[in-house]
Amino acid sequence: MQAVKISNHVYWVGAIDWNIRDFHGYSTKRGTTYNAYLVMGEKPTLIDTVKKEFYGEMMERIASVIDPKKIEIIISNHSELDHAGALPQTVAAVEPKEVYVSAMGLKDLTGHFHKNLNFKIVKTGDKIDVGGDTISFIEARMLHWPDSMFSYLEKENILFSNDVFGMHYATSKLFDDENDERIWLTEAEKYYANIVLPYSDIVLRLLEQVKKMELSPKMIAPDHGFIWRKDPTRIVQLYTQWATQAPTNKAVIVYDTMWGSTEQMARQIADGLRTGGTEVKMLSMHANDRSKVALELLNASALLLGSPVLNSQIFPAMADVICYLKGLRKKGLIGAAFGSYGWNGAPVDSLTKTLEEMGVEIVAPAVKSPFVPDEAIKKTCFELGQQVSQKLTEKIK
Ligand code: FEO
Repeated sequence: MQAVKISNHVYWVGAIDWNIRDFHGYSTKRGTTYNAYLVMGEKPTLIDTVKKEFYGEMMERIASVIDPKKIEIIISNHSELDHAGALPQTVAAVEPKEVYVSAMGLKDLTGHFHKNLNFKIVKTGDKIDVGGDTISFIEARMLHWPDSMFSYLEKENILFSNDVFGMHYATSKLFDDENDERIWLTEAEKYYANIVLPYSDIVLRLLEQVKKMELSPKMIAPDHGFIWRKDPTRIVQLYTQWATQAPTNKAVIVYDTMWGSTEQMARQIADGLRTGGTEVKMLSMHANDRSKVALELLNASALLLGSPVLNSQIFPAMADVICYLKGLRKKGLIGAAFGSYGWNGAPVDSLTKTLEEMGVEIVAPAVKSPFVPDEAIKKTCFELGQQVSQKLTEKIK
């Protein structure tokens, strides 16, 4: 397997994972890549490795450029195992003079591998000489792990940004300008919604910090998806937009149904929203997965949760998606709950409590239907949709 030259002295030596469909709970319908980069200065330097299973592929690509034993420096920007899984094997094979990590990176890697790792700790502002060029480090704590950091190749103006600015998208085309925007825009947005969203405040602070450092990368090289070379500012602008979470006139209805009653309620609410001028996405957990829900919620400002009651609990698929959404900490939402039940409506009320715990502003008490909704309940649902729509319209004024 061959490396791909991406600039004067830098090669892509990563791996393409065409077949992964579940990345720790994130549905990766288009697979992913694990990007690693070889900087061919006088001191050959490897930036990140790959998932353990792809160690052989990475080493073959490196060997197409240089004897791997000649690598003098390894930088680990992030300790998660899709980038560091092959690190111990690579260090053992290459025997580099130095391995650089952040302080938290060393802690995490020690936790992963239970070895005494003789790695050097770097922090924001530290620089290393790679022979003919310099790499400086910028810690990117909590984007999306405490250890995450960026490396910046100064003369070539390449920002190696690890997970940030990436996407889960297996593609043989290594650059932004070679890929179809109609596909990648959704994948980039989905990645932000599922991985980066909880840390949006940190994104905005980091982008401000990078701006003050007056870096103007001619390339941004993340560890997933492709490399931004045509217009690296594009993904930075998108991150700014997604992190800002400005109010929109869009609502998502996330629900499940047992015998169709909760779905009838959802459809009435959706129609109330629609007639109020709000864009609405109905997301049945029979037909959608949690990653799709996260994607649709990213640019929405209202969340409505609906569930039937089963054995005095909300439906299991709803419990799953709620657990996931709580972790994503989407801001600025309004919402309400609804659902049908047979003889115990309390679980539907618990959805309102859940929304409150998520920081959602409650528009109205839960609408509950004993068994199949009658005309009065359907009307209440329709009016709930209208009420939410009106609130959204006021918010975006
Ligand atoms: Fe791509 Fe946080 O690992």
